[in-house]
Amino acid sequence: MKVPFVDLQAQYGAIRHEVDRAIADVLERASFVLGPQVVAFEERFAAYTGAKHCVSVESGTAALKLALSALGIGQGDEVIVPANTYIASAIGVSAAGARPVLVDVNDAYLVDPAAIEAAITPRTRAVMPVHLYGQVVPMKPVLDLADRYGLFVVEDACQAHGAIWQGRRAGSIGTLGCFSFYPGKNLGAYGDGGAIVTNDDALADRLRLLRDFGQRKKYEHLIKGDNCRLDSLQAAVLDVKLGYLDEWNERRRDHAALYDSLLAAAGFATPKNLDAQGHVYHLYVTRVEDRQNVARQLSERGVQTGIHYPIPIHLQPAYAELGLPAGSFPVTEDAAAKILSLPMFPELTGEQIRYVVESLAEIARPPAPAHASVA
Ligand SMILES: Cc1ncc(COP(=O)(O)O)c(C=O)c1O
Repeated sequence: MKVPFVDLQAQYGAIRHEVDRAIADVLERASFVLGPQVVAFEERFAAYTGAKHCVSVESGTAALKLALSALGIGQGDEVIVPANTYIASAIGVSAAGARPVLVDVNDAYLVDPAAIEAAITPRTRAVMPVHLYGQVVPMKPVLDLADRYGLFVVEDACQAHGAIWQGRRAGSIGTLGCFSFYPGKNLGAYGDGGAIVTNDDALADRLRLLRDFGQRKKYEHLIKGDNCRLDSLQAAVLDVKLGYLDEWNERRRDHAALYDSLLAAAGFATPKNLDAQGHVYHLYVTRVEDRQNVARQLSERGVQTGIHYPIPIHLQPAYAELGLPAGSFPVTEDAAAKILSLPMFPELTGEQIRYVVESLAEIARPPAPAHASVA
């Protein structure tokens, strides 16, 4: 049996007619940049997240950078970011000219509020909770800290389209929320894409200037804005897919529940689920000993896996400047050594999930008991 890590061809097969029609419509109207499809998608995505505004951009990284720039965060400022995330969270901060201040995560792989508080300095301007793997960071302590210290909250919701925390959608809870529409995301384009959502009128206006050369009217440039717009073809694809997002997320939750029960029965760690209904399982992450060997053997049996992420940000050459040696963030580093992401996408079948877990049980050892608390 073959079990891919994600299967975007299967997804396209299921929605081909709608997608093809939407793409043809863009080609016929020939308005390729900030066209009507972009406006329509922004309106629908804002409504979906429950935020007042959506400003689409070229990628999730651009969304993070512009969000910080719109808040006036740059040179000399610090933004608190979890060490256990994709490097783009930190790159977004660096690209805005500010300094990412890394902190450790907890056993749900999400930023630890106590670590945030300990990292606050007079230069701290914002905190960036990352809703990693599709699970929203419990936001109450983060919002309380932000209130107490006068910080902005920039949500990195790049892996959490549609995820819910206490009835609120990821991205709509902080000052601003940033999304990536990279193809493999829960809501993915057919190329790069991203968006920022916010309830703040002035910030939305500033973001629109920043993404389009600082112009509100053609050839009238109010600020030195960037060029990082979403194109109409991607917006048209995203608009079609948005109609399926809740259904796809529901299927991901069903797959996670099946993985949970089969893995637990086989003695493996299941990811900590803080809210069964709110999690959208962008990734399903277990832990194993001797990971490299396990991943290789799974691959030989036709099962593709991933590691999110094998090298924490502070140990990347790109961030050597932070001067943080190995041992700085024990939870993140321990996770980086053992985590293994199993196949997860809406079109996955129960039969495939059973095959993945059976294969895993035949070749891998569950992690040492110290990590059983993750289950
Ligand atoms: C947590 C996180 N933040 C930021 C990004 C950056 O998004 P993009 O690849 O669209 O720039 C990604 C995805 O790649 C991500 O997973």
